[in-house]
Amino acid sequence: MHYVEYHLTREEKFMETIGYPELERHKKAHENFRKVVFDLVHHIEEGELHAFKEALAMAWGWLVGHIGKVDKKYGEYAKEKGFI
Ligand SMILES: [Fe+2]
Repeated sequence: MHYVEYHLTREEKFMETIGYPELERHKKAHENFRKVVFDLVHHIEEGELHAFKEALAMAWGWLVGHIGKVDKKYGEYAKEKGFI
């Protein structure tokens, strides 16, 4: 939970720094992810196996769908504008 918060907050600050035009939409996706993760962690701590399985599936989906596609777009923007 701490790493998720740390990572998403840093990413959002970076996007703010470069003036990324899709920032608000991206932040909403992060917010939805945070809510689901924090809810699942609570259930996992209660020993609910289905929550653990759901978290694994969600993490995989996030890697492929968000990091692999959505995050890539701000990287391309940053490159295009000469920030990286
Ligand atoms: Fe992101």
